[in-house]
Amino acid sequence: MRAFQISLDDDVLTTGPRDVTVTPRDPSDVLVRVDYSGVNFKDAMVVDPTQRVRRAARLIGGVDAAGVIVESSDPTIPPGTRVAVHGGDLGVGRDGGFAEYVYAPARYVSVLPDSLSTRAAMVFGTAGLSAMASVMALEERGPLEGDLLVTGATGGVGSIAVALASARGHHVVASTGSPDASSWLESLGARAIIGREEIADKPERVLATERWAGAIDCVGANTLAQVIRSLRYGAGVAASGLVAGATLATTIYPFITRGVALLGVDVVEMPARARARTWDALAATAASLDVEALVDHEIDLEGVTDALEVIGRGATRGRILVNPATRA
Ligand SMILES: NC(=O)c1ccc[n+]([C@@H]2O[C@H](COP(=O)([O-])OP(=O)(O)OC[C@H]3O[C@@H](n4cnc5c(N)ncnc54)[C@H](OP(=O)(O)O)[C@@H]3O)[C@@H](O)[C@H]2O)c1
Repeated sequence: MRAFQISLDDDVLTTGPRDVTVTPRDPSDVLVRVDYSGVNFKDAMVVDPTQRVRRAARLIGGVDAAGVIVESSDPTIPPGTRVAVHGGDLGVGRDGGFAEYVYAPARYVSVLPDSLSTRAAMVFGTAGLSAMASVMALEERGPLEGDLLVTGATGGVGSIAVALASARGHHVVASTGSPDASSWLESLGARAIIGREEIADKPERVLATERWAGAIDCVGANTLAQVIRSLRYGAGVAASGLVAGATLATTIYPFITRGVALLGVDVVEMPARARARTWDALAATAASLDVEALVDHEIDLEGVTDALEVIGRGATRGRILVNPATRA
């Protein structure tokens, strides 16, 4: 079959579509026919030799995929079951979703809610699950009365967070470095658009004006630091990403004088029950959304290299879908 393979030979990393054979790593692995995969920021990190994300010398990329079970010895996911596959070391330390078929442990598999097609599942993908988990973490903390900030708003996590949070009735303010995307973000539900530098005021003070009733951040670094110092009393920020960097320089003051919370979001090692709950919430919220509006464009396996370059420099607008069956 055809797949997007990453190989390290003699210290040289090469990537591209190739003819490969996949085999199960463990006899209990299930085989999934991939209908769609998606391009995630983490996929770009896997092919970046300066990052320490990749954990195998040779593997098929793609941290998530959706399709149909073809082989399974697990009675809870028999052949024919529509599933998403993601998490663990998929596409990082073992063959991933940029392929026509993928083997994975059953624990990496989520049965899709009936209302979610395999295409819609990958329009959302790991990014959408992270966005949904972020919204849920904030809602569980308490009522969100006021502006909910979403940073990195044109990216995968950000744009889906804008759409999901708006659909759930929250007043979303989208922060972006791409002002030309304002009308698209408004069409997803954002009530206001601000620049990356407008998240917090009073740069000379430790604390900024209390502004955000909640925030969803996948950018990290100084962006997250600015969010924390401008949260309202008792508010939380759901943090899932690090596109701007992994270092967080802040002070303890927002936490001990305003009672704010830094809520970590992870969907990679998320326990199965929480993952199923998050997919269910995603499907229920997606029912009132124009899911296709979240798609930047669709590619085949030949297009993965360019897509990884685009997402690696933070220039996507929404999600890039990969259809492995439409290869040249
Ligand atoms: N914790 C988890 O389980 C989990 C799951 C999924 C994803 N993630 C993480 O979430 C992050 C986002 O993933 P993604 O797939 O949504 O990436 P993405 O599509 O590339 O989106 C990131 C967005 O952040 C903004 N941005 C990029 N570089 C920036 C910079 N240097 N400074 C400030 N803003 C910048 C851009 O939006 P604007 O131009 O609109 O500002 C960009 O579109 C990644 O770190 C990923 O690893 C974590």
